[in-house]
Amino acid sequence: MERRIITTDVMEEEEAETEGSLRPQYLEDYIGQQKIKENLRIFIEAAKQRKDVLDHVLFYGPPGLGKTTLAGIIANEMNTHLKVTSGPAIEKPGEMAAILNNLQEGDILFIDEIHRLNRQVEEVLYPAMEDFAIDIMIGKGSSARSIRLDLPKFTMVGATTRAGLLTAPLRDRFGVLHHLEFYTVEELKTIIIHSAKILNVEVEESGALEMAKRSRGTPRLANRLLRRVRDFAQVKFDGRITQKVAALSLNLLDVDKYGLDATDRTLLLTMIDKFGGGPVGLDTLAAAIGEDSGTIEDVYEPYLIKNGFINRTPRGRVATSLSYQHLGKSVPDET
Ligand SMILES: Nc1ncnc2c1ncn2[C@@H]1O[C@H](COP(=O)(O)OP(=O)(O)OP(=O)(O)O)[C@@H](O)[C@H]1O
Ligand SMILES: [Mg+2]
Repeated sequence: MERRIITTDVMEEEEAETEGSLRPQYLEDYIGQQKIKENLRIFIEAAKQRKDVLDHVLFYGPPGLGKTTLAGIIANEMNTHLKVTSGPAIEKPGEMAAILNNLQEGDILFIDEIHRLNRQVEEVLYPAMEDFAIDIMIGKGSSARSIRLDLPKFTMVGATTRAGLLTAPLRDRFGVLHHLEFYTVEELKTIIIHSAKILNVEVEESGALEMAKRSRGTPRLANRLLRRVRDFAQVKFDGRITQKVAALSLNLLDVDKYGLDATDRTLLLTMIDKFGGGPVGLDTLAAAIGEDSGTIEDVYEPYLIKNGFINRTPRGRVATSLSYQHLGKSVPDET
């Protein structure tokens, strides 16, 4: 797939590095997600008072909203180690057992893309999460038997963009489930101003606001736009990011007024051009744009619905008049 500035995935190594430096380390530096922060603060405080580990936590929501960041924050707040792995990285039950067996009391085990764990690996987690134990088989054939190995108490933090793909037994073993929401323009503006300080970029409030509006509710995107606009500001202007500089640069980068990405636009255009604006069923739409219907539902659609580009009706998805206007199409007459 072509590389687009407005994808919400992590794009390159350089970006992975700056992401690290821009990541808030403690709850008080973490902007937005007020409800999650308040809850976490209480759970963390309570666990610390009891000198106990935190309940297992699951974060779900679209890419780039701060799930990995929160896992790091929990480890910092609990003053413990963070061990990081991911669903696709663990292929065999034995590998999972080894990871669990190497944990120390109180460690945070972060499993990213946890919906991609295979079934046998997942089964190792059930007793581990519930009873802090793993069952391992020794011997072969008729003399094979399973022994139970106790683990230190630990906290599992899972993250997924696709909560719908999590099996019920796994989901039920998390004590706390948190859904991350898109950020408001104000929150994104604050994040941009803060990142600009760290990156040593001069940005006016109006410039930060312009970038915030086009960040698709997503901090990762906000930080990415800041870095790209910084380059423009440096080469074409005097280095300072004003509203005008931000708007001109982002136009040149083809980032639209609402920060919609190419997939968003394809989705809306397909609804309008191929299905007369809908209603169109999710699966039909998915087939038409060659995407997985679950990805549309969990990753692309939430932002579009939240911002009034798409309505969900019992008969399928409908493109709103805002979609027509935004894509320069004439709005069909209401009948
Ligand atoms: N609340 C926040 N305040 C400030 N910056 C944030 C916040 N949340 C996220 N960020 C920034 O956005 C970047 C992306 O966040 P993060 O990697 O935690 O997202 P994610 O939800 O784990 O994404 P993915 O689903 O792709 O793994 C971080 O590096 C950080 O710089
Ligand atoms: Mg992540």
